[in-house]
Order: sequence, then C-alpha cells, then structure tokens
Amino acid sequence: MSVTEMLVIVGGFTVVFHLLKLTWRCWCGFREFVLSELWQVDLRTCGQWAVVTGATSGIGKAYASELARRGLDVVLVSRSGDKLQMVAKEIEDQHGRRTRTIQVDFTDGHRIYSAIAKKLQGLEIGILVNNVGMTYSDHFAYFLEVPDAEQKITQIVNCNMLSVPQMTRLILPGMVKRGTGLIINISSEVGVHPQPLLSLYSATKIFVTYFSQCLHAEYKSKGIIVQCVAPFMVSTNMTKNIAVNCFVKSASGFACEALNTVGHSSYTSGCLSHALQNMALTILLPDWLRMSSVLIRKLRNLAKVSQYERVCMEKEKFSEKEE
Ligand SMILES: NC(=O)c1ccc[n+]([C@@H]2O[C@H](COP(=O)([O-])OP(=O)(O)OC[C@H]3O[C@@H](n4cnc5c(N)ncnc54)[C@H](OP(=O)(O)O)[C@@H]3O)[C@@H](O)[C@H]2O)c1
Repeated sequence: MSVTEMLVIVGGFTVVFHLLKLTWRCWCGFREFVLSELWQVDLRTCGQWAVVTGATSGIGKAYASELARRGLDVVLVSRSGDKLQMVAKEIEDQHGRRTRTIQVDFTDGHRIYSAIAKKLQGLEIGILVNNVGMTYSDHFAYFLEVPDAEQKITQIVNCNMLSVPQMTRLILPGMVKRGTGLIINISSEVGVHPQPLLSLYSATKIFVTYFSQCLHAEYKSKGIIVQCVAPFMVSTNMTKNIAVNCFVKSASGFACEALNTVGHSSYTSGCLSHALQNMALTILLPDWLRMSSVLIRKLRNLAKVSQYERVCMEKEKFSEKEE
C-alpha cells in the first residue's frame, strides 16, 4: 500500500469518526432539550419532599416553585427568616403544597448541619437541590482585590463547596435505602472552563462539577440520579437582575427547562440557549485564550468601565429622586 492510499484511509476514518461524533452530540442535544419537553420524568416517584438550598430568591426559589408545581412538598433552606416565610406562603398559595423552612447561614461552616439534620428527620426526601452559592465581587476582579479576603475566602468555600457534600451526606442515605432519588447540584459555566478574575468562584464551581459527576458514577446503579447543572447568565440578584434576552434566561424559565432535562442528562447547561452558548464559546474562546494576559487585561478594563457606568447611573437615579 502506497503512502497516499494510507493517508486516504486514515483521512476517511477521521471524517467518519467526526461525523459520528457530531451525529451523537446532535441526538443527545435533541433528547435533552426537545424530547424532554414531551417526555418528562414524573419527579413525584422520587419521594414526597424536595429540599432546596438558597431557596428565597433567584434560581433556588424558581426550582422550589417549579418542584411544588410538579407535585412535591418543599423544604426551603436559606438565611433570611422573613424571605423564607414569604416564599413558603407564596408556594403554598400558588401550588397548594406543604412547605417547611430552615433558617441557616451556610457561611457558618460545619456546625449548622446537625440542626438541619434534626429538622429533616422523618421526611421522605426524594429530591435535593444544592443551589446555594455566592460570589465575592459584583465585577471581574483580581484575587488580591477580594474585599475582606480573610473572611470572604472561608465564607465562599463554606457556602459554595462545603454545603454540597454536607447536605448530600444528610439526605443520600435515605435515598439509597429507598432505591430512588435525585440530587441536582448547581455549578456554573465557569465551573467547566476556568475563569480568571473570578478565580475563587470558578474554583468552587469545578468542585461542584467533579463531585456531581463522581457521585453520579458511584450511585447510579443504586437508583440515584446526580445531575450537574452548569448555567450561563440567569437574571437574578447575583447578576444584578440583568435584562432577560435570548442569551440571559429568567430564573423561572431556566428552572422549568432544566427540570425537564432530568433523566435525559446527568450533566447539562440547563437550557438550549446556554448549551448553544457553551458550544460556541468552546470553539471561539478556547481555554488558552481565556487564560491569556491580554484577554484578562481587556476583561478587567471592560469591567472597570461598566462598573463606573453603573455607579454613574446609580448616582443619577439618586439625584433624580432627591429632586
Ligand atoms: N445567576 C446566574 O447567572 C448563575 C450562573 C451560573 C451559576 N449560578 C449559580 O446558581 C446558584 C444560585 O444563584 P442565583 O443567581 O440564584 O443567586 P441569588 O439570586 O443571589 O440567590 C441566592 C440564594 O441563596 C441564598 N443565600 C446566599 N447566601 C447564603 C448563605 N450564606 N446562607 C444561606 N443562604 C444563602 C440567598 O438568600 P438571601 O435571599 O437571604 O440572600 C438566596 O436565596 C448559585 O450557586 C450560583 O453560583 C448562577
């Protein structure tokens, strides 16, 4: 066989391999975001109760409300008592489901979990949504610019990371005993690709991603689904309630689409728009480019400009009010 013939065969195999890979990806996407609309898993089969952390606003509140709409009773876990009572009442009125509330601050570390365990005793918990999370700055910032770094580092690690395995430790044994259960862990797109200027946040989210994937591999044979959800931008307090458009989802729209993907994918961007953004970004902004000093400087300057504009707008609004 000549070298040319060999190159043709290798080229042919490569093309077929990539075509098969593309077809498989398209099928998975179709199943995850189109078929899932028609063919939804009945989440009530997991158990009577769902537990949602960080449930008083944004994505957590939207998950709690959507789970109640789908027939589950909900335990809301968050830090503000007033907001907890308000959201609980809203869910009971709107969906006629039972609620319970647990007021804790996840930045307090390991000492809060015995109190949570006591409050969850006796409930048949079928679903756990590990949603609670926080950032340390409202704009892209260098690590040394983190305000009150000594405290903030521990708080973020406790809230974004420690809460996930600790809540899982409390709830998973019951699921394993019953041979069914669903754990949804909210990571982020920056928990899949490293994001400079959000270094600590990005690192806490890759922890969530890996923990979810490993746990799913360990417990899927025992009837437990562990799903990792890695969204892009969702309009919430965390993102300063940015306007909703074809790139930015509303929290309720996101939770509804993301819950449809359960049983169709153990790792998801949560919605079609975010999955397409993820694909586009992987091609257009490879990790080596994200990590380049030039891009980091550009991003920092952009962040400074938008922060300055925001301060100006807030000042304008304030002076208008005073007039
Ligand atoms: N929004 C996005 O674009 C986006 C993108 C990717 C990933 N995520 C992830 O999605 C999750 C939810 O984010 P979100 O945008 O919905 O945030 P959010 O609107 O700021 O809501 C966060 C929720 O968590 C609660 N919470 C915050 N710190 C807490 C603490 N120390 N102890 C107890 N509860 C606490 C908040 O309670 P209070 O109401 O009392 O503050 C609130 O209910 C986070 O894990 C975030 O990393 C968000």
